[in-house]
Amino acid sequence: MLTIHIFVFLTAATHQLAFAARKDVDQIVSLPGLTYDVQFKQYSGYLQGTTGVNLHYWLVESQSATPSTDPLILWLNGGPGCSSVKGLIKELGPFHPNPDGVTLFENVYSWNKKANVLFVEMPKNTGFSFQNTSLNNGTTYNDETTGADTLAAVKDFFDSYPEYRTRDFYVMGVSYGGVYVPLLTNLLIKEIQAGRLTANLVGIAIGNGQLKVTQIINSNMVLLYAHGLIGKDDWDSLQKCCPNTTLVDCDFSQWLTLNTDGVPYPVNITTECGGIVADLGLARVWATLNNVYNIYQDCYQKPATSSKTSFASSEVPLPGSRSAENAFIDQGSMINWASTDAFGGYSCYADSAAERFLNTPIVRDALHIPSEAPTWQTCSSIGHLVAEL
Ligand SMILES: *[C@@H]1O[C@H](CO)[C@@H](O)[C@H](O)[C@H]1NC(C)=O
Ligand SMILES: *[C@@H]1O[C@H](CO)[C@@H](O)[C@H](O)[C@H]1NC(C)=O
Ligand SMILES: *[C@@H]1O[C@H](CO)[C@@H](O)[C@H](O)[C@H]1NC(C)=O
Ligand SMILES: *[C@@H]1O[C@H](CO)[C@@H](O)[C@H](O)[C@H]1NC(C)=O
Repeated sequence: MLTIHIFVFLTAATHQLAFAARKDVDQIVSLPGLTYDVQFKQYSGYLQGTTGVNLHYWLVESQSATPSTDPLILWLNGGPGCSSVKGLIKELGPFHPNPDGVTLFENVYSWNKKANVLFVEMPKNTGFSFQNTSLNNGTTYNDETTGADTLAAVKDFFDSYPEYRTRDFYVMGVSYGGVYVPLLTNLLIKEIQAGRLTANLVGIAIGNGQLKVTQIINSNMVLLYAHGLIGKDDWDSLQKCCPNTTLVDCDFSQWLTLNTDGVPYPVNITTECGGIVADLGLARVWATLNNVYNIYQDCYQKPATSSKTSFASSEVPLPGSRSAENAFIDQGSMINWASTDAFGGYSCYADSAAERFLNTPIVRDALHIPSEAPTWQTCSSIGHLVAEL
């Protein structure tokens, strides 16, 4: 008995050493482009998914005075195929890229002011995540494979950072995260109940979550009116299309729907109502300069010297990529140098600035990204392989 106990103890101790070493290796000691001193620790490296699947993670510890008692948030972006590092660098993380794609400025609203935030890039081959083809050539993408890889990665995280096991743990995500978050949480609960995972899971949160196509389309029409993107006359003109119901109960999805990539396209456009709904619910949102991530503002392509009013006319060419065929537009090509909005037109240039920053060799080195990992993209083309709408 005694021998066995010693053996177990030594094995555990050896594991602890190995994990501590990996955490040390993954610490980001100096991130190029920072224009201010960060007062928190951050780590970037890989978590093990299923065999041969290496999921990139970036952990930013809390900026509060008590990071060691603050909660842990796992953050998952959607798509599918959009990088969770996009969430860090464009959305809720501690710093954002300037238009130069080289320097970073502080996001004073960062969620890591109060929480430790773990960004995991999934599914496989999203962002810096990659597959080791000498171990796994699998090409299957679905919610089950994504769930299995992410679950394994989360378990690997807690093995590597055991101090987080007792911390309040939240799983949060956006968009297609409306599918990932509940599916992963279901798996986590089963693992915890079976005694295969020790973690203090206390809650989930979903922003702008994936819904059924009919719910997305129908709620979107109401949202556009409620936020003033379409006017009262436009709204009233829809009444003839839904004569027997109030407009909030109308099924607009008979004229507008989503393809499997989540991209909206019109159906029955040759009918009068098909034309009206396609115009109000699609063309005026996606085929204009409207900034879909900040709908009260437009994106602009003019240089900084232009004034806002000088290009509010039809002389402005519509960006070619901005169409119903490609709703996930390259916002980075639409830099709003002259923006007056509170975010400085940030979301218009953020995609290309983030891609330029993250693909800089010294930045990849600082983040411990190996040469086998792909060029970082905000969203990869694997989305249509994953979506199960
Ligand atoms: C891929 O797996 C092989 C076999 O385990 C290993 O030798 C190699 O280092 C791995 N490559 C990467 C980039 O992790
Ligand atoms: C994956 O395919 C490559 C190229 O055909 C091959 O070298 C490798 O052994 C394969 N990996 C596995 C795990 O079968
Ligand atoms: C509206 O209701 C009337 C009377 O019940 C019916 O004849 C008509 O077909 C309905 N129209 C639609 C578009 O459902
Ligand atoms: C197009 O309109 C016709 C006639 O109203 C209807 O029967 C059909 O279901 C519509 N098609 C789609 C894809 O909604």
